[in-house]
Amino acid sequence: MTSFTIAIDGPAAAGKGTLSRLVAEHYGFHHLDTGLTYRAVAKALLDAGLPLDDEAIAEKTALEIELAGLDRSVLAQHAIGEAASRIAVMPAVRRALVAAQRRFAAREPGTVLDGRDIGTVVCPDAPVKLYVTASPDVRARRRYDEIIAAGGSAEFDTVFADVKKRDARDMERADSPLKPADDAHLLDTSEMSIDAAFRAARDIIDAALKTD
Ligand code: CDP
Ligand code: CDP
Repeated sequence: MTSFTIAIDGPAAAGKGTLSRLVAEHYGFHHLDTGLTYRAVAKALLDAGLPLDDEAIAEKTALEIELAGLDRSVLAQHAIGEAASRIAVMPAVRRALVAAQRRFAAREPGTVLDGRDIGTVVCPDAPVKLYVTASPDVRARRRYDEIIAAGGSAEFDTVFADVKKRDARDMERADSPLKPADDAHLLDTSEMSIDAAFRAARDIIDAALKTD
């Protein structure tokens, strides 16, 4: 038996993580939020007072990241998402993290990986690729609502500007830019509930599992 991999990519706050968790639970597959691996490197550098722009130091940190020990609390930390997108432009960092992500993808019976380059670089042979997106306005609204719900404070305009800035950095970098794989199914969740997005994904995955 070999592993069945579902690749889920898309921009910040598109709903990738929520969808990936539901899909992994439904099929009994292992799930890896690859954004957490980039966030873990950024957090380790910040905590140690190390620079974010030294590729050799960032690579050494990336090689030491343990997938089993990934900390989900960094998800809510806005500054870490921003720092993560800065170290994510470095090829040596990406090489180190992609190697660990590929080992994870091979786990049986199946895996769901979500990120920016899963369908294009990490698992180009994945039998199912979804590119989840939503308009920048809707994504900024979701991020804003999350910050407020967590008891934080923010200006919507600032969150909107940050979402656009992160989109630009992720889409314009030279190494593994964010873009849909040629064979990805596009899922625009701007006007979709979480449940509707899950049902659409399930139909696509069920069809692929039948032909696998
Ligand atoms: O992983 P990613 O940054 O792409 O997004 P997420 O963390 O899954 O979703 C961001 C927020 O949008 C969460 O609070 C979700 O509950 C919400 N969401 C939504 O309101 N409607 C959807 N169809 C998908 C997500
Ligand atoms: O949750 P959100 O979509 O805001 O971000 P994330 O998935 O936690 O990722 C944080 C940053 O890591 C992204 O803005 C990307 O720059 C980078 N990343 C990447 O380059 N490749 C991936 N496969 C996953 C994340």
